[in-house]
Amino acid sequence: MFGKDLPGKAVILLGLLLGAPALQAATHVATASFGKTPDGTAVDIYTLTEGRFEARIMTYGGILVSLRVPDRQGKTDDVVLGYDSLDGYIANNSPYFGALIGRYGNRIAHGTFTLEGKTHTLPKNDGDNTLHGGTRGFDKVVWSGQPIKDGVELTYVSPDGDQGFPGRLTVVVRYTLSRGALRIEYSATTDKNTVLNLTNHSYFNLAGQGNGDILSHQLQIFGSRFTPVDSTLIPTGELRPVENTPFNFRTSHAIGERINADDEQIRYGRGYDHNWVLDHAEGQLGQAAEVYEPSSKRTLRVLTDQPGVQFYTGNFLDGTITGKGGKVYRKRSAFCLETQHFPDSPNHPNFPSTELKPGEKYHSVTLFEFGTATR
Ligand code: GLA
Repeated sequence: MFGKDLPGKAVILLGLLLGAPALQAATHVATASFGKTPDGTAVDIYTLTEGRFEARIMTYGGILVSLRVPDRQGKTDDVVLGYDSLDGYIANNSPYFGALIGRYGNRIAHGTFTLEGKTHTLPKNDGDNTLHGGTRGFDKVVWSGQPIKDGVELTYVSPDGDQGFPGRLTVVVRYTLSRGALRIEYSATTDKNTVLNLTNHSYFNLAGQGNGDILSHQLQIFGSRFTPVDSTLIPTGELRPVENTPFNFRTSHAIGERINADDEQIRYGRGYDHNWVLDHAEGQLGQAAEVYEPSSKRTLRVLTDQPGVQFYTGNFLDGTITGKGGKVYRKRSAFCLETQHFPDSPNHPNFPSTELKPGEKYHSVTLFEFGTATR
């Protein structure tokens, strides 16, 4: 859509033009209290500031609460949906706004999988399926936080049997902000064979959170195939070419262009709610997606070493949530690009494996790189 490193260059150029030498300076990290959960556990919030960029992350759910990013004119806006206070996240049963997702991002069919001949049963929290780790996933626990260079490190120890998953799992997530990019680095170890699929569930609107729908955002996804689903959004197992379908974002298209197409997969998703098979080699950092918002000229580039990305267009938002600054979140007022292994992989031997064994280290990196386009 634009030159490989144009967004980065555009940011630096814009920074120089606006006389913002702080853009290259170290990121400032501040810690503050963000309240308590109903059981009295203290929650902290970390503010990462780098020039005009600012990310706020709290220890409840490891949630990215806000992300301020400059537009073409240098005006900053918060580009992620969420709530103003901790109570909002707890009381409103948030649809995973900004949260860390674990142990298993997206769905596991019928809340069950078999590992080494043993069947594991998980709580069903999405019809007959398990979604985003069960009823109390990593989005609903308090992580322990500590400031690190350019960011924050969050740690959570999930006990053996947590939400039905085997093994005591130690998870470390590092959020860092540098050169206009938010980097999320995930690591984990286990003491028993288990499955794991970690992601972040931020809802983006590059025109600013609450500022209308995302249908005119231009999107490119670097994936030639996707994993079609059944009516409950469980993959059928097929890896289907995107060619000649509304899922072909190999070149840039407006998100809204084909979102209401007469297509079974679009109907099942109520829009886009699907996993793309990324073209880059698994385990190597490669491009997942690029997004451009015409009014602000903001750009977002997503890079990951994961084999897939879930592109979700906020189809379940329905105007019943009032979020930050009193903004009402209507259908398709945001999009998610959840870097991940494919949904329901533990039940699909042909999908890349999500198994983690004792002695192995799970390690994964995703980058959300912001810029502005010159056109
Ligand atoms: C994921 C799922 C969607 C939806 C959202 C949260 O993206 O694929 O179907 O459940 O999370 O609302």
